[in-house]
Amino acid sequence: MRQCGLHIGGKALDVAAGTLDLALAMSDAVGPSGEVTAVDFCRPMLDVGAKKLARSGKTNITVVEANAQHMPLSSNAFDAAGIAFGLRNMADVEAVLAEMTRVVKPGGRVVCLELAKPRGPIFRRLYNFYFHGVLPLIGGVVHRRRGPYDYLPASVQSFCSREELAALMVKVGLTDIQVHDLTSGVAAVHVGTKI
Ligand SMILES: C[S@@+](CC[C@H](N)C(=O)[O-])C[C@H]1O[C@@H](n2cnc3c(N)ncnc32)[C@H](O)[C@@H]1O
Repeated sequence: MRQCGLHIGGKALDVAAGTLDLALAMSDAVGPSGEVTAVDFCRPMLDVGAKKLARSGKTNITVVEANAQHMPLSSNAFDAAGIAFGLRNMADVEAVLAEMTRVVKPGGRVVCLELAKPRGPIFRRLYNFYFHGVLPLIGGVVHRRRGPYDYLPASVQSFCSREELAALMVKVGLTDIQVHDLTSGVAAVHVGTKI
């Protein structure tokens, strides 16, 4: 959220907002005079978010039920657009990045937080053992459903690399791409600025 570079009174977009965690953080960053729009196409996720929103008492978040690949939003309207743990689940990653870039003002930021493959060889081995071996087992026992816990590592495995994601961001019209690894590269934040 800090990488979005938001200011009081600004306009922010949370894409694949789910239960609105990023949108709520953005709302604090832009203050009551600012505006946050949260887009997701999954009603049950947004319903959970609506309860959080009601508890927060915030009035500057507008929720839009829509596909991130074709957002019913004006061009050049936001200071920043962020997506947290959503890009990996998109059918067309480039289309979503292009949409986020379209709706951001020139000079505004597009920020993508996503799970990634750790870089260090020793940590990567431990991580793979846990992520591909232990986590699905625990999920199967505790949750009695292995599917989501098999999907999670498989989706990280098949998602584009840091370099491929950065190249896609350049392709859709972003510049000055910066990549910040989190927790030894288990996740990464890509930040781009609209030309
Ligand atoms: C793992 S959740 C992340 C939610 C939230 N950003 C967070 O960090 O808690 C992924 C979200 O992406 C949404 N999503 C996936 N594909 C989408 C699409 N094409 N358009 C809109 N939302 C989408 C799902 O509905 C889901 O709520």
